[in-house]
Amino acid sequence: MKSIVATIQDQIKSQFEGDSSGHDWHHIMRVVNMSKHLQKTEGGDLEIIALAALLHDISDYKFNGGKLDEGGKVAFKLLLDLGYDEVKAEQVKYIVDNVSYKGANTPSEINTIEGKIVQDADRIDAIGAIGIGRTFAYGGNKNQAMYIPELEAKLHNTFEEYANEKTSTINHFHEKLLLLSERLNTKTAKEIGKKRHQFMEDFLTQFYAEWNFQSESN
Ligand code: ADP
Ligand code: NI
Repeated sequence: MKSIVATIQDQIKSQFEGDSSGHDWHHIMRVVNMSKHLQKTEGGDLEIIALAALLHDISDYKFNGGKLDEGGKVAFKLLLDLGYDEVKAEQVKYIVDNVSYKGANTPSEINTIEGKIVQDADRIDAIGAIGIGRTFAYGGNKNQAMYIPELEAKLHNTFEEYANEKTSTINHFHEKLLLLSERLNTKTAKEIGKKRHQFMEDFLTQFYAEWNFQSESN
């Protein structure tokens, strides 16, 4: 019989293949693979980790009309319909509900090692070269300006502000991406995050230099 992880993996693959919003199937698989890598040194239940990683974007508020607690419910029902253990399904639901970033000054604590790992893997995929690519892809999908020099970046105090206020893709670096490496939970993830963080800093330095290019002869 096919394992629960393999069944969910097939289902998620057919649902997310072809998505161009930054929540594509490849993002999900990178989160699964990074989660497994982190589990090797950080511990935790591998099945719960794999299921939560596969299901973590199942119903994102940014794409489901703003419903914040939909993902966990959808994941829980999917697992129970496949005959999965209710207590374990609750553990997966908890992770799906709490994995997301909710703004600079809004805590997004997660209290299980399985949750900390999946959150770290998801955040690692939001930074570095891949993170830069995903952020511009997301911005394009949402018709958001790449950069508006006069629009100041904000450190949001509530999730509602973070989710609803107008921003630019470059501001998103200051509102989220550059804050993530400091917020990783596990030691293994922090080591990986450091390098990717520096890459984004270098990218922004170059971006601003090109944007503000002045010919020396002017
Ligand atoms: P994650 O999968 O890391 O939880 P999200 O679901 O928050 O990330 O967002 C998916 C991708 O889109 C991420 O790479 C994220 O940084 C990017 N993103 C989210 N909001 C914005 C925004 N306002 N502008 C540009 N990119 C964004
Ligand atoms: Ni994700």
